[in-house]
Amino acid sequence: MKHYLQFNDLTADEYAYLFERAALIKKKFKAYEKHHPLADRTLAMIFEKASTRTRVSFEAGMYQLGGSVVHLTTGDSQLGRAEPIEDSAKVISRMVDLVMIRTFEQTKIERFAADSRVPVINGLTNEFHPCQILADIFTYIEHRGSIQGKTVAWVGDGNNMANTWLQAASLLGFKVHVSTPRGYEVDEKLAAGASGISAGSYQFFSNPLEACKGADLVTTDVWTSMGYEAENEARKAAFADWCVDAEMMAAAKADALFMHCLPAHRGEEVEADVIDGPQSVVWDEAENRMHVQKALMEYLLLGRVA
Ligand code: CP
Ligand code: NVA
Repeated sequence: MKHYLQFNDLTADEYAYLFERAALIKKKFKAYEKHHPLADRTLAMIFEKASTRTRVSFEAGMYQLGGSVVHLTTGDSQLGRAEPIEDSAKVISRMVDLVMIRTFEQTKIERFAADSRVPVINGLTNEFHPCQILADIFTYIEHRGSIQGKTVAWVGDGNNMANTWLQAASLLGFKVHVSTPRGYEVDEKLAAGASGISAGSYQFFSNPLEACKGADLVTTDVWTSMGYEAENEARKAAFADWCVDAEMMAAAKADALFMHCLPAHRGEEVEADVIDGPQSVVWDEAENRMHVQKALMEYLLLGRVA
C-alpha cells in the first residue's frame, strides 16, 4: 500500500506513468467517455483548512471515476473535539478505500497514515502540497513538453509550494531558482524530507528579478498561507518587492509560462497584467488538478492499469 504524503513518495518512473495516464483520463473526460475504474469505492476527504480547488477536484474526480465521497471538516466531526488522530484513522479507514487530508502540520498526516488501512493523500499541509505540483508539472508538459533540464523561478514565500518544487526538481531533473524575502527562506532540511534532494537542483537568489532571468516558468503564491494569518501585516511589508510583474516576466525566456496555484491576490504577489496575461496558464493549472488526481487515485488503488 502506498501513501502520497509528499512529492518524494513516488519515483520518476511512477510520475512518467501518471502524466501519461492523466493525459488519457483528461482526453476521455473531454470526450464525455465513461471511465469508472473506482466503481463502489469511497474517498473520505478531511478538511481542517478552507479549499475550493482541492475540494471540487477530488469530489468531482472521484464521482467521474465511478466512486463516491464523504466530506468531513474539523467543525462537523469528532476531529474538532480532540478525538486522537490515530483513533480517527483506524475508524475512517475501515469504512472507505482512500483518504485525502488537508491539515496543518505534516506530522498530523503522517500519524494518520501510520494507522490507516488505506492509502492517504496529502491535500496540503503547512509543509507540502504535492497534488498541486503534480498538476503544475503536468500543465507545463502539456504546454511545452518535458520539464527535464528546464528552470523554474519561485518568487515569494519559502512555503509548502516552494518545498514541494524543490523535491520535484531533484526527482525529475530540473532546476528551481528560489527568491524569498529575508526571514522567509526555504528550510532546506525540511524541504528535503526523508529521502533528500540534490544540492544542484536549486539555487537561492536575494533579488527576485535575478531568479527570473532565463527561466522557463515563473511561479508564485500568496504572501500569507493558511494558518499564518497573524503574520499578515509583517508579511505585507516584507514581501512588497516579491510581486511578479511584467519586468520579471520579461527577464524570463520569451516563451516562459506563468503559474499560480490560486487563490491569488492581484497587486500583491502578482500583477493583474501577468496573471491575466498571455503567458499565464493558471486556469489550465487549476483544471488539471482534477485530471492528475484522478490518475493518482486510480494508481493508488489499482496500480498500473495500462
Ligand atoms: N490550489 C489549491 O489548493 O486551492 P484550494 O485552496 O482552493 O484547494
Ligand atoms: N501556500 C498556500 C497555498 C494555498 C493553495 C497555503 O498554504 O495557504
